[in-house]
Amino acid sequence: MTLLDVDSIYKSYDEEEVLEDVSFGLDQQDVEVIVGPSGSGKSTLLRCMNRLTEIDSGEIYLNDDEIHDLDENELRRRVGMVFQGSNLFAHLTAQKNITLGLREVLGMPAAEAQAKAMEYLRQVGLEDQAESYPAELSGGQKQRVGIARALAMEPELILFDEPTSALDPELIGEVLTVMRDLAEEGMTMLVVTHEMDFARSVATRLMFLDDGRIVERGPPEQLFEDPREDRTEQFLGELADIY
Ligand SMILES: Nc1ncnc2c1ncn2[C@@H]1O[C@H](COP(=O)(O)OP(=O)(O)OP(=O)(O)O)[C@@H](O)[C@H]1O
Ligand SMILES: [Mg+2]
Repeated sequence: MTLLDVDSIYKSYDEEEVLEDVSFGLDQQDVEVIVGPSGSGKSTLLRCMNRLTEIDSGEIYLNDDEIHDLDENELRRRVGMVFQGSNLFAHLTAQKNITLGLREVLGMPAAEAQAKAMEYLRQVGLEDQAESYPAELSGGQKQRVGIARALAMEPELILFDEPTSALDPELIGEVLTVMRDLAEEGMTMLVVTHEMDFARSVATRLMFLDDGRIVERGPPEQLFEDPREDRTEQFLGELADIY
């Protein structure tokens, strides 16, 4: 039941190789956490999965469809993304931020879109904030609206790029709890984060990316307790010191 199959992708900017021969696969319900130094290509790798960034070569299959054969709207419906900042529209309420994509991308009737938005706001514990504007929400609430917005499209895979790194420490937990619940419900997730407790307790696999290459990937406990590569041990040790 392979959901995502990434086959030898390459990406350069000018002369700089940012991703080099990256291959991996995700099965349905996998939660893979990606870690690596700043500039190692983590965000670029995620962005290639929904074609916010175009690869130079290689192939990416989503449930057997090569993503470059798909219409971009179709692809972005099937692959959701949650960014570091929530990227909500400031002039729209939480509910309208969610219905927008349902209406415009899926062509869903208004009443149905509103009901679906409420369903997913409830899932992230924010049904009472449906009429709030982003400026009236905390950073953690905004991130949860961003997650509800991604979920409402009923994607096959959700990408998370450092979803908690811009949050005050006391707001990180509520976002991680929503993500943990999603994982338990069987959502397939590819997550860039430095939250190693989350990686240990939720991830099915951990990937260490350095200099555009996968150095090592495996069950989190294996990378933490018994890494094959010295670089992995060194990097995870440094992370543990910082966080
Ligand atoms: N649009 C772009 N144009 C040119 N270079 C880029 C672009 N996007 C990324 N890069 C370069 O690609 C490399 C990888 O960047 P990327 O953002 O993927 O790293 P990252 O691992 O997400 O880093 P961070 O932990 O700081 O978020 C960096 O050297 C970066 O400068
Ligand atoms: Mg990044």
